[in-house]
Amino acid sequence: MALDEQAAPSPVHFHDYHPTPADLRAEVVAGLALPQKRLSPKLFYDAAGSKLFDAICELPEYYPTRTEIGILRAHGAEMARRLGREALLVELGSGSSKKIRVLLEALRPAVYMPVDISREHLLRSAESLAAAFPGLQVHAACADYSVPFALPVDDHEHPRAAFFPGSSVGNFEPPEAERLLRRVGSILGPEGRLLIGVDLIKDRRVLEAAYNDADGVTAAFNLNLLARINRELDGSFDLDGFRHEAFFDADRSRIEMHLISARAQQVEVAGQTFAFREGESIHTECSYKYSIDGFHALARRAGYEAEQVWTDREPLFSVHCLVYRG
Ligand code: TRP
Repeated sequence: MALDEQAAPSPVHFHDYHPTPADLRAEVVAGLALPQKRLSPKLFYDAAGSKLFDAICELPEYYPTRTEIGILRAHGAEMARRLGREALLVELGSGSSKKIRVLLEALRPAVYMPVDISREHLLRSAESLAAAFPGLQVHAACADYSVPFALPVDDHEHPRAAFFPGSSVGNFEPPEAERLLRRVGSILGPEGRLLIGVDLIKDRRVLEAAYNDADGVTAAFNLNLLARINRELDGSFDLDGFRHEAFFDADRSRIEMHLISARAQQVEVAGQTFAFREGESIHTECSYKYSIDGFHALARRAGYEAEQVWTDREPLFSVHCLVYRG
């Protein structure tokens, strides 16, 4: 039997900005000391959390992932024409890099630069992507994109484009989202294109089901935050002492996720004690939902012009091509 020669996988250049653990400790302790306790959603994505999130994306109730992928499949060629070939393509929150695969054939970037806070997940995804697209230069950056950071390669040879899928922009308060988009714009430069996925306002039942799945995967994902604090910050959270809650606040047009304390209790984290009343919550996430016009207004405030928008039929979800005007 002849041995097949394995094509050597393309090397991934890995750039580590070390977003944890010093920041983790400071953020968690500060968040738990607030009158309304808060933990940032970026803390969800340790190795276990990233796996749970991939499972959320496969749930029947969680419509955003499959709907966005459907839109990318249907309109990828047109999106690629807007973004241009041979680009330096930055992806924010690349996760398992599933969505970009739909576009790579049409986009043919010169350099792909996935940015994600979840180190192992990022490395594995970047390596498998580089192996599937030989010749593509991959520069993976492990970084927290919610704070300013410089691109790891100083390449000005290629036009720049950015991809920000998954409606992650909705996980920021609108003024923060505006600042983030402006920072992306300054990386892109004038005329740079941003392709961004944004979840749309819809029936409350559809929205709430997406964050309260029947199998409890979202609950496990939310509670993993406490397990992570126990693992990494010497925490004493009793996971049975908290339950997952998610609801849509129509006035603010956002899903809120909380962890609710089942009883009065005290918890140690990083050597400090935090008291919980019965029913007291830790607010762990917001997921803002936009109308197309509402999102365009945000984009304009951040210095962009809306060039084109694609949606599914219903429509549940939108993908926008924005041009940075500065
Ligand atoms: N960007 C995703 C969203 O807002 C993130 C997300 C989806 C999420 N489901 C979740 C985060 C459940 C925490 C828990 O929809």
